[in-house]
Amino acid sequence: MKRNVVSVFVILMVFLFVWGNSLLVAQDKYELKAPNGIFFSEIRGYETWQVVAPSYRTDKNELRVILGNTVMINAYKKGIPGNGKPFPDGSISVKIGWSERKSPVFPAAIEPDVLQRVEFIMKDSKRFPDTNGWGYARFVYDAKTGTFSPFGKDASFAQECHQCHTLVKAKDFIFTGYPQR
Ligand code: HEC
Repeated sequence: MKRNVVSVFVILMVFLFVWGNSLLVAQDKYELKAPNGIFFSEIRGYETWQVVAPSYRTDKNELRVILGNTVMINAYKKGIPGNGKPFPDGSISVKIGWSERKSPVFPAAIEPDVLQRVEFIMKDSKRFPDTNGWGYARFVYDAKTGTFSPFGKDASFAQECHQCHTLVKAKDFIFTGYPQR
């Protein structure tokens, strides 16, 4: 009997230790830094930023939502970039991507399934002169471990981002417009 009590106690202690440790090592995503020096924390609170627009990648079957900080949203509302003016310094655009699945209760509807990544573009003309004032960062989500990791081997990854975004140079390198709502 006494031995039983001791083993239950030991099992409980081991459980508490492992569980407590897992709480301690839970990732703080905002400590992560992209290889070009941009911290995830530079978009702290993005979870509740305003929606610019949703989007869908047909070749990746991925749902996205594009969000903007206050500076970005106000610029859109003033008609930027359609009016030919660039987004001001301080503008930030965030894109969140999810894999898709059919709604289990209504299969004609598609809904977000697993988080894939969070990425963003921020305007700071002095800090990012080589990419027309835009700084790029991407953090890839791993659903197995529930953690993010920075994308890119070195700072040159941002050149790739910028190269594709140069397709929309005339819109100050931003693809997504602010649709009527
Ligand atoms: C091959 C082309 C391509 C590359 C490379 C690319 N993007 Fe984009 N990006 C797009 C397109 C197209 C959109 C429009 C919306 C969408 O795809 O969901 C977009 C949209 C965005 C947006 C929302 C603002 C906007 O322009 O509409 C952010 C933020 C973004 N990309 C970040 C990045 C980052 C960070 C990288 C590099 C790590 C990157 N992109 C690389 C094509 C690209």
